[in-house]
Amino acid sequence: MCGIVAYIGNKNCKDILINGLKRLEYRGYDSAGIGILVKSPDGNSGSQGLEIKTVKQSGKINDLEKLLKGQKIEGTVGIGHTRWATHGEPNQVNAHPHFDCSKRIAVVHNGIIENYTEIKEELKKKGHTFISDTDTEVLPHLLEEFLKSDADGGMLIAMQRLLKRIKGSGAIVALSSDYPDELIAGRIASPLIAGISKEANFFASDMPAILEHTHNFVVINDYETVRLTRDKIEIYDASGILLQREPFKATWTLESAEKAGYEDFMLKEIFEQPYGIRETMRGRITNGIFNFDEFGLDDDKIKNLKKIQIIACGTSYHSALTGKLVIEKWAKIPVEVDIGSEYRYRSPLIDANSLFIAITQSGETIDTLAAVKEARKKGAKVIAITNVVGSTISRESDSVIYTHAGPEIGVCATKTFTAQIIVMYLIGLYLAKRKKLLSEETLKKFINELEIMPNKVQQILNNADKIKKIADYSYRHTCFLFLGRIYGFPMALEGALKLKEISYIHAEGYAAGEMKHGPIALTDTKTIVVGVIPKDFVYDKMLSNLQEVKARNAKIFALTTEGDSNTSKYADYTFEIPGTFEELYGILEIVPLQLYSYYIAKNLGRNVDQPRNLAKSVTVE
Ligand code: AGP
Repeated sequence: MCGIVAYIGNKNCKDILINGLKRLEYRGYDSAGIGILVKSPDGNSGSQGLEIKTVKQSGKINDLEKLLKGQKIEGTVGIGHTRWATHGEPNQVNAHPHFDCSKRIAVVHNGIIENYTEIKEELKKKGHTFISDTDTEVLPHLLEEFLKSDADGGMLIAMQRLLKRIKGSGAIVALSSDYPDELIAGRIASPLIAGISKEANFFASDMPAILEHTHNFVVINDYETVRLTRDKIEIYDASGILLQREPFKATWTLESAEKAGYEDFMLKEIFEQPYGIRETMRGRITNGIFNFDEFGLDDDKIKNLKKIQIIACGTSYHSALTGKLVIEKWAKIPVEVDIGSEYRYRSPLIDANSLFIAITQSGETIDTLAAVKEARKKGAKVIAITNVVGSTISRESDSVIYTHAGPEIGVCATKTFTAQIIVMYLIGLYLAKRKKLLSEETLKKFINELEIMPNKVQQILNNADKIKKIADYSYRHTCFLFLGRIYGFPMALEGALKLKEISYIHAEGYAAGEMKHGPIALTDTKTIVVGVIPKDFVYDKMLSNLQEVKARNAKIFALTTEGDSNTSKYADYTFEIPGTFEELYGILEIVPLQLYSYYIAKNLGRNVDQPRNLAKSVTVE
């Protein structure tokens, strides 16, 4: 998830691009860059005495601005990018724009090119050289190659051929010094809009980047390409046919546009989960094909694996618990899960035949990092799972598996959690596949189900108003117990954590079977029991647990599966989630629980994006 802004008009665009990028920092902020068409100092670069001047910097837009200070860059066509790294560390070389060999084409891109390695190899054979570790760099080189074979088609036809060649996702904007009066864009799956005004035209990944210049927007759809000039926009469909599309007028303010119209980043991020799940599976599960070789263990290592140790904190710890359940079930490898701050001070048994997995969305949690150091000292191979490319953990582990949820601004982890859960499923299935413990048919069933998971999550989000109503009835209660069993247990823990974090109401997550061992003493009329009760093999046990708390006057909010008419006899409120395999329910259960906490907190007037006493990354002990 990166931010793109591009300008074609009659003003010097350096500041316009920089200001636009500042408005997009919530989309990515680890490095940034601009590329502007300027008069070539020697007057003979490009066909028109023009060249593309790029300035790039790691860090925030402020860092780029500092670098630009005092540099005279004058030009009226330009592209800008703020990056949230997916391939290659966030450094100056990997920052966008990227050039082709001749430096006459510059490209900015938001998305993931799944087949970039294959394209890169093909282009290398044709003499192209690459300087970055990014997937994006193949794009200008591809455009260069297409232009070589069809110069008459120009950049537009080259972009149309490019969209057919790449697999993955992308909002792509290209600038060429040979075609100085146009910007060319293409889109597959990543957001891209054009902004239209009398004075100038724009591209952006999101409205806020250009809202101060125009309120007239055109949405670019999948597989469309666009030629944008100073006074015209031409949109072409996938087969190259010119389309007619009128701009619409946006009424959003700058602040609401940054949150895409949602009240808070947290709500926006909850609603972004279908995207985050899809992006995390991208290239790993595509059209029924499962490829997770990035896990990087050879057959011998997998065969000799005696134990997997997973370490994490907070929400990430809850995804680790799901990891334990699915890895043990599918791959038959014992998994131990521990909290970073505990692990680092006990005497863990770990050796070279153990695999150590550290989960941290930020990649900066001090206790998780300390545990990683400890494990490596003892000879264990460490795999990190993180959402932040170039974070400390990615440098201090043997290998990294990235979740691709995009930047999470709200302190509360939501979309990074569901992305982590997806990685847990992938690891479990991958190890089982390598150990030949799941039949092809069973594996296929899981893969197919995961592919439609974003749609099931979307179905839940479409019913958010039903959760809101339940939250409206619940928010005055002062004690919440979240109960679940097996796959539902980590979700009960996470549901309780979400609620206490943002509403400041006391909430506990429990394995439902534990109720009789103490917590049931808490239940009275002030208590709400949130029961995670999908139609799985412990359904009847869960139902008995709910009946027990009902008998003690607690109110019950039950998360049930579509078609379960039984639970509602005992529950005061129910919300139905779509059916799935019992191992995969967690990802569907947590979404309504996130919404429930969110609406309760809003009813109490809490600041859900920045809850009191909490920080996004916990870098102190
Ligand atoms: C989640 O909502 C919390 N903000 C917190 O528990 C968080 O999950 C924990 O601090 C771990 O963070 P990490 O994933 O960045 O390591």
